[in-house]
Amino acid sequence: MKYYIMPFGCQMNRSDSERIQTVLNGMGYSESDDENHPDVVIKGIVACSVRQKAIDRVYGRIRNWNASKTEKPVLTFISGCMLPADREKFLKMFDLVFPIDQLPGLPDMIRQYGVPTPGSIQVSSSAASEVTFGAPEFGKPGREEARERIENFWKLKPSYSSRIEAFVPIQNGCDKFCTYCAVPYTRGREVSRPSEDILQEIRRLVREGCKSITLLGQNVNSYGLDKKGDELSFPELMREVGEIGRESGKEFWTYFTSPHPRDINVELLEVMAEYPVLAKWVHLPLQSGDDEVLKNMNRNHSMARYRSVVQDIRRILPNAALFTDIIVGFNGETVEQFEHTADAMREFEYDMAFIAKYSPRPGAKSAEWDDDVSHEEKDRRFHHLGKLLQEIAAPLNLHRLGSIEKVLVTGKDRKGFISGYTQGRIPVRLTGKTAISVEIGSFTDAEIISARPLSIEGRVL
Ligand code: 5AD
Ligand code: SF4
Repeated sequence: MKYYIMPFGCQMNRSDSERIQTVLNGMGYSESDDENHPDVVIKGIVACSVRQKAIDRVYGRIRNWNASKTEKPVLTFISGCMLPADREKFLKMFDLVFPIDQLPGLPDMIRQYGVPTPGSIQVSSSAASEVTFGAPEFGKPGREEARERIENFWKLKPSYSSRIEAFVPIQNGCDKFCTYCAVPYTRGREVSRPSEDILQEIRRLVREGCKSITLLGQNVNSYGLDKKGDELSFPELMREVGEIGRESGKEFWTYFTSPHPRDINVELLEVMAEYPVLAKWVHLPLQSGDDEVLKNMNRNHSMARYRSVVQDIRRILPNAALFTDIIVGFNGETVEQFEHTADAMREFEYDMAFIAKYSPRPGAKSAEWDDDVSHEEKDRRFHHLGKLLQEIAAPLNLHRLGSIEKVLVTGKDRKGFISGYTQGRIPVRLTGKTAISVEIGSFTDAEIISARPLSIEGRVL
């Protein structure tokens, strides 16, 4: 008997899916990547509420799933980032709706629901030890209760989807309340995962040969602040990861996403400079290049602050790749304010930018305001920045021509070429006579022989 899970949105959701898999595998089910496979009896979604588009797709999918139930019984569930208004609707459409931190109770929920089970249901010891089960509880738990629940969730050993690349959650929730953002309402207040657990997981991954580790949190540099004095700070945590690299003598790259421009500091950048296993890559969300818009977004920093962080990055980590997130068409964003964002993109020379059209999220502060930039204008701004990104990133990649880059080989690309990425997460297609013999999961040196705006081609040496 099989299950099918569909994660939407960010890496945190993909990481959550890996823990859902552990619980379902522990019950004896096995994964299917085909939702129509005849053996599939459980179908689940890990929802993303960051933009309406993803939520609309959830509604489309559950209508299909429910329609096909007349042919065959299946149990449907949804978890992940859900806004209260959607959750109410999901309760009527899905068989099970639960907050992700109540995942350890899923076996009980499934049993109570009475779905066909593979033999006697046994939850493996790695799955749900020391956890009390019960009906899912929503509402707003206090920080201590939220901490206990999420710490139990983190204790589940993930069913990693790759042996080469792993996501490691270090924090859940967010206390920043940017006015556009759903996260504080879907994931709740910020809770840091105990550093001992994080470091233990990383040690194990390194021992097992993992080559790329991404630490995940909504606001990684406020890691530990919810347990100030009793927990490591984010730079201290990164130093410990650096030490794991030193002691193991193994080569791997450690990433983190995302920091907040308000909290990132020189201490962190210096630690990154010190240890080779800490990847020279910074994903620093800009959101807008205009002070007034930043203020309306409640980002709590000015462009001057952002600029000084980028200057620190360029000084301390001169070869670091810089990625960003940008929102276009936020409430009241004028053409002139939008131009400030375009100016900022030119100024900071991003290697990559994830550009999003503003989408009001019910419950978040900005949803109370007039969504006054038209669809057409959001589209125009979106395409304008997309084109600008290509213009900015192309010369950065052209500079790499002739140089030797270390590449982590991850698999084959859509056209069947062996591919991977640089430490700065620039995608690389590997060619040359020896490309076919490089091992997936290894590091290889490649001479860059051609460059496109957002990717490069390297000849394996
Ligand atoms: N509309 C559009 N984009 C959003 N993001 C977050 N909330 C919204 C929203 N309401 C973007 C931000 C964030 C990224 C994860 O998603 O750029 O950094
Ligand atoms: Fe959302 Fe802002 Fe928190 Fe990021 S920092 S998760 S954008 S509220």
